[in-house]
Amino acid sequence: MKNFIEEYKERYIDEGEVLLYEDGDHKIYWVGIEEESAFRCNVYLIVDGDEALIVDPGSRLYHEELKNRVDKIVGIEKIKGLILCHQDPDVASSMVDWIDINPDIQIITSARTNVLLPYYGRGDYNFYNVSENPTYTFQSGKVLKFIEAPFLHFPGAFTTLDIDAHILFSGDIFAAIDIDWNLVVNNFELHKNNMDLFHKDYMASHIAAKGYARKIENEEIDAILPQHGSIISKENVKNAIEYLQNLQCGLDIIYADLK
Ligand SMILES: [Fe+2]
Ligand SMILES: [Fe+2]
Repeated sequence: MKNFIEEYKERYIDEGEVLLYEDGDHKIYWVGIEEESAFRCNVYLIVDGDEALIVDPGSRLYHEELKNRVDKIVGIEKIKGLILCHQDPDVASSMVDWIDINPDIQIITSARTNVLLPYYGRGDYNFYNVSENPTYTFQSGKVLKFIEAPFLHFPGAFTTLDIDAHILFSGDIFAAIDIDWNLVVNNFELHKNNMDLFHKDYMASHIAAKGYARKIENEEIDAILPQHGSIISKENVKNAIEYLQNLQCGLDIIYADLK
């Protein structure tokens, strides 16, 4: 078993496919996207033998680029599902293109997200309901656990924990806005400012953040892979959870006088 994430802390990487974790046939990759904006989106690929899932495949703008990268790693016919942590276009709009490639693909998401996804133009898909089935088991027996994250920022948002790899795919939670993007955080104190730029505006409230932090504080987590901004490696996981526990955001700020 090998987690390579710590090694990327000192290296600037912003393109190509990056292997983050490997344990036999179970692998996790960062697969992009190279986007010239501070809001740039991360897409991840989980490969398990002959099965692969894309985590938050993102916008239609980058679909061709992503498809080529995924094809290089596993072949697009191996993509069995898309994990969509909520319905925002930067997370989910390319789902229609993936359904065109494989009409049997599973759309792995929450019930609340599933209500909205058909508005991208395709409602005729296989829905894997994480609200009713809080785990996903690969043929190998490896398990993903879905952890609901209400109002961070969408009411039906959820995160995905790879139980064996100890890797948390956190969606917009722990996201950061950053011009000087680096694959892995190397200075968490500075990174907190970048997280503030996202969390204070997008996340609902202190209670929402603290409630979710309570759900994950006893999980074994070796890395946090957010949908925006740098990956958080093991040495900063505790700091990141503490950040969430202390966060004042959203309604706490907008309606501060009502407290
Ligand atoms: Fe979002
Ligand atoms: Fe996002």
